[in-house]
Amino acid sequence: MAELKLPANSIVKKGKTVNHVEGNNVRKFSVYRWDPDTDENPRTDTYEIDLDQCGPMVLDALLKIKNEIDPTITFRRSCREGICGSCAMNINGRNTLACTKAIADYDGEIKIFPLPHLSVVKDLVPDLTHFYGQLASIQPWIKTETAAPPDRERLQSKEARAKLDGLYECILCACCSTSCPSYWWNSERYLGPAVLLQAHRWIQDSRDEALGERLDELEDPFRLYRCHTIMNCTNTCPKGLNPAKAIAEIKQLMVKRQL
Ligand code: SF4
Ligand code: SF4
Ligand code: FES
Repeated sequence: MAELKLPANSIVKKGKTVNHVEGNNVRKFSVYRWDPDTDENPRTDTYEIDLDQCGPMVLDALLKIKNEIDPTITFRRSCREGICGSCAMNINGRNTLACTKAIADYDGEIKIFPLPHLSVVKDLVPDLTHFYGQLASIQPWIKTETAAPPDRERLQSKEARAKLDGLYECILCACCSTSCPSYWWNSERYLGPAVLLQAHRWIQDSRDEALGERLDELEDPFRLYRCHTIMNCTNTCPKGLNPAKAIAEIKQLMVKRQL
């Protein structure tokens, strides 16, 4: 019988408690650490923080750790207001944005890991190279055949513009794709919910003239049809979007064009 075993260096070990503070409002943050420049296993280090001396969001705690306790901890962030998507990580078992997630939403110790099922660059930084390559593959820009009007932009009616609501707001944080079991097992070939929601955003754009070509590109047993409507994507999206619905609508368009 086959014996399945993880390589020894993939096991996450318990690290150290890096600082200890006293107070009535102290919270523990257990953070995944891995440094590619050492031969050491990944570990979880624990940092204690006095929340009376810290901003309200999980990202505030990480910034406090980096600025005041341990400058080696590595994570992405930029806008600090849920717009850039770079602070996506797994907090207490759920993918979300550290900058918009309040510490007060959790009880007890807060466990922070990188987005799951991606290679780790360092600590909380996942490798999104493949994800962005998949995004580029759906050609996320307006494609036209006809010449633009000489004296104005390509206009949209209000109704046509409204069809982009629920799609254009995606910040490409990858929380949905990295919570999708189908994407975990087939990410080489399945595009995943974030990229498919983006595909639908351009399919729905009334100014785009490449609908047939876009659907042809998605008509594939893996790229689109590996979605099994498990809904993890929609449940986790920190922007309240519904990638599963976008995927279902692309599938409907595929059926309609064959009628
Ligand atoms: S659909 Fe939501 S979870 Fe997925 S990438 Fe866009 S914003 Fe992030
Ligand atoms: S609905 Fe589809 S894309 Fe979303 S988590 Fe499930 S399988 Fe993945
Ligand atoms: S820092 Fe930009 S979304 Fe969190």
